[in-house]
Amino acid sequence: MGVIVHETTGVFHLCNDQISYMIRKMPNGQLGQLYYGSRIRDREDFPHLLERAHRDMAPCVFPGDTTFSLEHLKQEYPAFGTGDMRYPAYEICRENGSRISSFCYRGYRVRPGKPELCGLPAVYVESEDEAETLEIALEDPVIGGKLTLLYTIFEEFPVIVRSARFENGQDLPWELTRAMSISLDLPDCRYEMLDLAGASLRERYVDLHRLHPGVQSIHSMRGHSSHQFNPFLALKRENADEHTGEVIGLSLVYSGNFLAQAEVDTMGTLRVMAGIHPEGFCWPLKKGEEFQTPEAVLVYSDQGLNGMSQVYHKLYRTRLARGHWRDRERPILVNNWEATYMKFTEESIYAIAKKAGELGIELFVLDDGWFGKREDDTSSLGDWTPNRKKLPGGIAGIARSVTKLGMQFGLWFEPEMVSPKSELYEAHPDWVLGSSDREICRGRHQYVLDFSKDEVVNYIGERMEDILRESPVSYVKWDMNRSISDLFSVGRDREHQGTVYHRQILGVYRLYDRLTKAFPQVLFESCASGGGRFDPGMLFYAPQGWLSDDTDGAERVKIQYGTSYVYPVSSMGNHVSAVPNHQTFRSVPLAARAICAYFGAFGYELDLNLLTEEEQGQVREQVRFVKEHRRFLHTGIFYRLRSPFEEKEAAWMVVSEDRKKALVAVFRFRQPVNRGYDRLRLAGLCPEWEYEISDRDYCCFGDELMQVGLILSDRASGVLNSETVQGDDTARLIWVRTVG
Ligand code: DGJ
Repeated sequence: MGVIVHETTGVFHLCNDQISYMIRKMPNGQLGQLYYGSRIRDREDFPHLLERAHRDMAPCVFPGDTTFSLEHLKQEYPAFGTGDMRYPAYEICRENGSRISSFCYRGYRVRPGKPELCGLPAVYVESEDEAETLEIALEDPVIGGKLTLLYTIFEEFPVIVRSARFENGQDLPWELTRAMSISLDLPDCRYEMLDLAGASLRERYVDLHRLHPGVQSIHSMRGHSSHQFNPFLALKRENADEHTGEVIGLSLVYSGNFLAQAEVDTMGTLRVMAGIHPEGFCWPLKKGEEFQTPEAVLVYSDQGLNGMSQVYHKLYRTRLARGHWRDRERPILVNNWEATYMKFTEESIYAIAKKAGELGIELFVLDDGWFGKREDDTSSLGDWTPNRKKLPGGIAGIARSVTKLGMQFGLWFEPEMVSPKSELYEAHPDWVLGSSDREICRGRHQYVLDFSKDEVVNYIGERMEDILRESPVSYVKWDMNRSISDLFSVGRDREHQGTVYHRQILGVYRLYDRLTKAFPQVLFESCASGGGRFDPGMLFYAPQGWLSDDTDGAERVKIQYGTSYVYPVSSMGNHVSAVPNHQTFRSVPLAARAICAYFGAFGYELDLNLLTEEEQGQVREQVRFVKEHRRFLHTGIFYRLRSPFEEKEAAWMVVSEDRKKALVAVFRFRQPVNRGYDRLRLAGLCPEWEYEISDRDYCCFGDELMQVGLILSDRASGVLNSETVQGDDTARLIWVRTVG
């Protein structure tokens, strides 16, 4: 495993048992891309892989040689202005207005392990032998620019992590106006692009389309990774499916504006790139200053989309998420948001917590509405002192009462925001983003605090620390409920403005860093008006995130299914809420709501006192189930089996690492009548082992369950009283366990 360097030919071959990634110094000094895919044998050189051909009209690098055109070569980190007509990976604007640049190879360094990225979330190693990192140094002497391309290859994972670092080495300043984390040229475009697209309340729906000539992209220009797109795309071969075939995943470890695009050129080659969105981005660099891009995580799978997802799950669960809670069983919580919204008293809150404790729930979370003069969403964000009208004993009082019940106490914050009606805004109107000579857009009646300013981040950090210090708080829900519109930092010069989007998110990371370091045992859950910032960057600080504000049991199946393309079960905050559901007005049975929520960090979001005795009994049983199985559910291997986007049923399963047990969940959205026979092919079992199945009186070998399938046919055409008739919006669990 590791980085093989062929100094004489200038070939760098990063490989492990599963993958190869090869680049080479090209005759003009820039870097060319040779190969990325499943492992191939190493050789001193692969000169033929840098395919050169004469093409009419192509700008050529060497006089008299019409075959060396950057427009047609597969490059590693392409420049603007030196003959490549496709989208560049980066762009630099000099003082004289020139945007031409050309970085040429100068040297390399290989080091064990993986370096941290200062101020940015990043995948990490626990010991240096887990990975090796290659740093390639390039230089553009005309602009005095230095560029370092960073590559990490892991021993265990079919993963390449990439990022880039720019430095200005000369007296004249220049501006970086585009700096992708990764650009990858692939020799053909016979792929379909899968991305996760949606909106608030329907985040991360699966979107799949064939690549076509031109650019197809996903992006966010909202200042957060967004409900609309997730910073992820996969390229799958047209014949690849969930279980077989070639797939390349590209995920960006970043929570702000991003762009990810696939560009198919006229020769049918493909350039895929991802990084900070160039819109509104302009980063000035003076002599000696550096800019480090966020990192991108490339996964290669020859076992279909599930193979790709399983790599992301394990990598992100164990080498991106960190801290005390990374490997611990997550507490089962009850959150009061949908139970009370902001209309609560100490008594009503306590009553929910008390009932929760009786039912075995471990953590009570007090959501929005506990601070300042907050009665609705028009006031008080930024005033992080308890609302004594609602909570006479303050947070300390209610937190102590809850902990006396034997439960933990959790608290909601929205640190990045301020209400126009607040003491904070009155005192510091210049702390919000937006230009003072214009009306600033409000989102949910609130402004965005300018986190590009250290003093703002520090102030909010201190207020949050005060609360967390004086009260026994063991969980924080960190919310963020509006996009960033008026991008302007008051009192800062022109040069600063193009850095604000990125500095804003760096400020968020800084605050997370400060609080997670000061309170290492507190469990942080990220949230952004539901799942508006559910991304790998957040996972670095908060090992779980609130998936969506849509808590409908049927809608959640789709959201969890889409989210599972990248994110592990352990990262998905899932709650059972009341019926009729507050978003869809649908009434999914309690059992089905819980079955869906089991595959995540489980909790409730309803007034437990309003449940009937029978329902409370069900809740008690669900809580018992989760306590018994959560470790398995969070660490097992997750397989998508049937897509809710394609069928009226959905199914997924989790298999233990030793393959001795598996839990299959089947969701039915519409009850069919007198339908045909149905078999669900399972995955991940050992073909030679015999398994018993929870609701069957026969056993099957693993090969049968995976090749023939588990029979799911209804045993009746739809008549009443049949045990197999379930109805709309129902779900069932099937255990598969080795015999004996
Ligand atoms: C949006 C979150 O997604 C909800 O769960 C809740 O915390 C509200 N904000 C509170 O304002």
